[in-house]
Amino acid sequence: MLSATNFSQQLQFESNAVDDSMDEGGAAPHAKKMMWSIEFEKVSKSFGSHQVLVDLDLQVRPGEKVTLIGPSGSGKTTVLRLAMTLAKPTRGDIRIFGESILFDADKKGLSAAQESRIRRRCGMVFQQYNLFPHLTVLQNLILAPTTVLRQSKAQAVESAMVYLRMVGLQDKARSYPAQLSGGQQQRIAIARALVMKPEILLLDEITSALDPELAGEVLDVVRRVAHESRVSLLIVTHEMRFAREVSDRIAVFDRGSIIEQGVPEKIFTQPENERTRTFLQSVLDH
Ligand SMILES: Nc1ncnc2c1ncn2[C@@H]1O[C@H](COP(=O)(O)OP(=O)(O)OP(=O)(O)O)[C@@H](O)[C@H]1O
Ligand SMILES: [Mg+2]
Repeated sequence: MLSATNFSQQLQFESNAVDDSMDEGGAAPHAKKMMWSIEFEKVSKSFGSHQVLVDLDLQVRPGEKVTLIGPSGSGKTTVLRLAMTLAKPTRGDIRIFGESILFDADKKGLSAAQESRIRRRCGMVFQQYNLFPHLTVLQNLILAPTTVLRQSKAQAVESAMVYLRMVGLQDKARSYPAQLSGGQQQRIAIARALVMKPEILLLDEITSALDPELAGEVLDVVRRVAHESRVSLLIVTHEMRFAREVSDRIAVFDRGSIIEQGVPEKIFTQPENERTRTFLQSVLDH
């Protein structure tokens, strides 16, 4: 783990990086365009006549930790599902490190091979951990690296053990999922996403199915990932204390768009939008 001082230095470094790029993006003649790790541009999504996302613009910097909060049904999971290409937007574009996950340079749809190459840069962990019950922990962790990334078994096992240590479960390599607690299974699910070396990790309510004590273990693992790796995190959570502590930026969702965003301190202590205040009151009262 990084010490508190190192972590604040890291944040300082990251916020300087933003300021620099914004300066360059403004007046400099040889302006270097900011490369977002993930970028939604005017994205709308409807299910039938129900518009769930409305002209959404959202950008995440490489290494940035962004948390989406907001009322149930406001569209947070939909954002993550679109980023994982589990659903397609009705309008707009989504780019991962500058490459559209929807269109090629001629504005035509991507081939399956192009799509899978780009989507591999993203990993996702869901509320339900979805481990394969008939495979051991180690077999769960090496399956995708050996098939999708074509790593040798030895290479995949070595990497799996690194991430098992990171989530504190190296002694469970030979266990089956049913022999683990919910919190342990979720930590394995996080390790399983990390062995694919994603540059962006999407976490959707990963503690909602867990008792508070087990949720705490899982959140500790996410804190480690946040502090020790340069992966971009896009997190959806109802754990406000965690959101406040781990995020570089909080985006507040309501009815399919971002109504307010900023550093956690600002959102939690001086929210500007009335709907943000109402939402925070309703969740912080519980
Ligand atoms: N496949 C689908 N078909 C029809 N409607 C859908 C589908 N997926 C989501 N929706 C609707 O889109 C809206 C946004 O859903 P979404 O799951 O993104 O909300 P959310 O912000 O993640 O909510 P929660 O906090 O409860 O998880 C909801 O009204 C939901 O019913
Ligand atoms: Mg959701």
